[in-house]
Amino acid sequence: MTSEYSSLKGKTVLVTGAGQGLGRATSLAFARRGAKIALVDMNEVSLSDTLKELQDNGSECISIISDIASSGAPHHIVQQVVTQLGTLDVLVNNAAVSSVESLLDVTEKEWDKVFAVNVKALFFLLQAAAKVMKDSGGGRIINVSSPATRMTLTNYTSYATSKAAVDYITRTAAAALGVYGITVNAIAPGRMDTPMQRATEEANAAAAGVDLQTHMHSRTVDIPLRRRTTPEEVAEGIVWLASQTASYVTANRLNISGGLELD
Ligand SMILES: NC(=O)c1ccc[n+]([C@@H]2O[C@H](COP(=O)([O-])OP(=O)(O)OC[C@H]3O[C@@H](n4cnc5c(N)ncnc54)[C@H](O)[C@@H]3O)[C@@H](O)[C@H]2O)c1
Repeated sequence: MTSEYSSLKGKTVLVTGAGQGLGRATSLAFARRGAKIALVDMNEVSLSDTLKELQDNGSECISIISDIASSGAPHHIVQQVVTQLGTLDVLVNNAAVSSVESLLDVTEKEWDKVFAVNVKALFFLLQAAAKVMKDSGGGRIINVSSPATRMTLTNYTSYATSKAAVDYITRTAAAALGVYGITVNAIAPGRMDTPMQRATEEANAAAAGVDLQTHMHSRTVDIPLRRRTTPEEVAEGIVWLASQTASYVTANRLNISGGLELD
């Protein structure tokens, strides 16, 4: 176990979307600090892979297979975590879905799908977690946002709008929950080569009629740091926000985006 952030040892951390990408890297990063992890994902196969990797490393963890957007799921997930792990100290609201549609082609079905996961489920997970944290004297909530909210992306209207809602929820929840010792922050990751990013870029390249490699290259050289980031690099920011070191940080958005926000 690494010695930094020793305040996280024994803490209970709930990570949504833990099966792959940033959620998986975040779960591993917390486990390395000795935290107990509740892994949530709707993908049973990838979730059991993450669970196995954590257990092989000696971590205390549970997995919950759930579609967080289904009715009542946020409440049931948080209750299950408290029942099985005793409490809940940190919520990482990471699970989300992406959507590539030009503005004139956005469908009601796609809009509703994106908002059900990225906004509704995130909010009610936050609410359910905050009730537990209020009774236990405090906690940390980290919502995963996106640089997309601050860029002009005509193919991402529903996704970017949903992440703008995440930023609003973060600020208003920080204001409402500070009195209970709960900090609420957002993190905005830059481009990570996860399954979500790959699917998004494939759809975008196809829509633009360019080959994938050319499209990906153009979306790398426009980053001020001239490289993409990794889920592991972004996960360190999430761990920091949950640690004692960040005890006075709330209502913030931490951009780990290589400067993309300058666009
Ligand atoms: N990949 C990027 O470059 C990038 C950039 C900016 C922001 N983000 C954000 O980072 C977060 C993680 O993205 P990622 O790239 O790791 O995504 P990903 O698609 O690779 O992984 C998301 C995980 O969430 C799970 N999930 C999705 N909907 C769910 C639901 N309804 N119930 C339960 N689980 C569900 C999926 O099964 C998957 O395991 C997201 O909030 C995303 O919007 C990603």
